[in-house]
Amino acid sequence: MKIVVIGATGQAGSRLMSLLSGHGRETVAASRASGVDALTGVGLADAIAGATVVVDACDSPTRADGAVREFFATTTANLLAAGAAAGVRHHVALSVVGADRVPDSGYLRAKVAQEEAIRSGPLPYTILRATPFFELVDRIADAGTDGGTVRLPPARVRPVAADDVAAALGAIVGDAPRRTVVDIAGPEALGLDDLVRRVLRAAADPRVVRADERARFLGARLEDGALRPGPGARVGRTRLADWLERTVAARTRHGTMPARRDAGALLRRVDAWPHARVERRGPRATVRDEAGGRALAVLELETGRLIAPLPRELVDTARDLHPLWRPTAGGVTVDLSSPAGPAAAEALLRWRLELELFAPQALAASP
Ligand SMILES: NC(=O)c1ccc[n+]([C@@H]2O[C@H](COP(=O)([O-])OP(=O)(O)OC[C@H]3O[C@@H](n4cnc5c(N)ncnc54)[C@H](OP(=O)(O)O)[C@@H]3O)[C@@H](O)[C@H]2O)c1
Repeated sequence: MKIVVIGATGQAGSRLMSLLSGHGRETVAASRASGVDALTGVGLADAIAGATVVVDACDSPTRADGAVREFFATTTANLLAAGAAAGVRHHVALSVVGADRVPDSGYLRAKVAQEEAIRSGPLPYTILRATPFFELVDRIADAGTDGGTVRLPPARVRPVAADDVAAALGAIVGDAPRRTVVDIAGPEALGLDDLVRRVLRAAADPRVVRADERARFLGARLEDGALRPGPGARVGRTRLADWLERTVAARTRHGTMPARRDAGALLRRVDAWPHARVERRGPRATVRDEAGGRALAVLELETGRLIAPLPRELVDTARDLHPLWRPTAGGVTVDLSSPAGPAAAEALLRWRLELELFAPQALAASP
């Protein structure tokens, strides 16, 4: 059974890829970084050919209302059409718990339209609606920041770990299509302000968080309960305290945040290269080739993990080039937290950029 994950470098998609490959499933990691663009359709038919299941875990790179609407409408139409042509038997998509209860949010209106297109589309489907991921908290905080203060509505949410969302997706992929919406939420309800306050405090972030009923989330005012999961929702196992212990607190235990510090220094060096540019967005930074704008690699700032998606043939080549370049599903990773990690990551980025500039034909091979 071939499973194609669209958005395979994202928070949810990358974790689903690791889970599926760990279980020996035949997977294809698809996103612009591996030459598959669900918006333009480039590379889509090849990636989906022979697939049984397509998981749509992609997200719009921009948040302007019109761009988001266009992104989800077009990517969904393209994925459903390519899936129908390839005989896909299960279309799985990620959406947002409570999407239909916040009509003032352009982002959530776009997600509702995406769900409707899937429901009335040609493929058997399952839609998994998730609450905000713990991994999104940095981005939520940044969006609400004005100077040293973060203003957020105190509406309660049930945040969930992206690992738990990936586990739920993994189970859905192995099941028959439900032709309905399934919710997943975390085990605890927390005010949005309280959630962000606890994460920032654990990261020794000096910003002050204030509850403000008028503050916006995803572009809209938020009533308490608007993002509550429906009855019968799946419940993720990870509690905030456990997630903090595993991620933020582990990074700050020695009074510094080594992964983040090393990642920042690496990105500043790479941004100064003539043919590369760095885009930071929340907990991820994407390194792109300046000319083509293609994503060369993604750096997870929290974990210090660099992921360079590559076709399978080049993953085999990379394995022999550097002892710290580790093959993974659909690419090569480097862990910056090891002593030689930053140098190995920089070497990987340089090699990946040289391929882009001097051997683009090698990158055109199937992922
Ligand atoms: N994060 C949350 O808290 C949360 C909560 C509930 C639901 N969701 C839903 O879950 C889904 C995934 O969210 P996420 O936070 O995991 O996303 P993310 O981390 O922002 O990743 C987005 C992914 O989409 C890919 N992508 C962007 N444009 C693309 C294109 N044109 N063609 C193909 N791939 C493209 C990106 O890879 P490239 O840049 O390489 O293309 C990346 O792999 C979204 O639908 C979102 O609405 C998220």
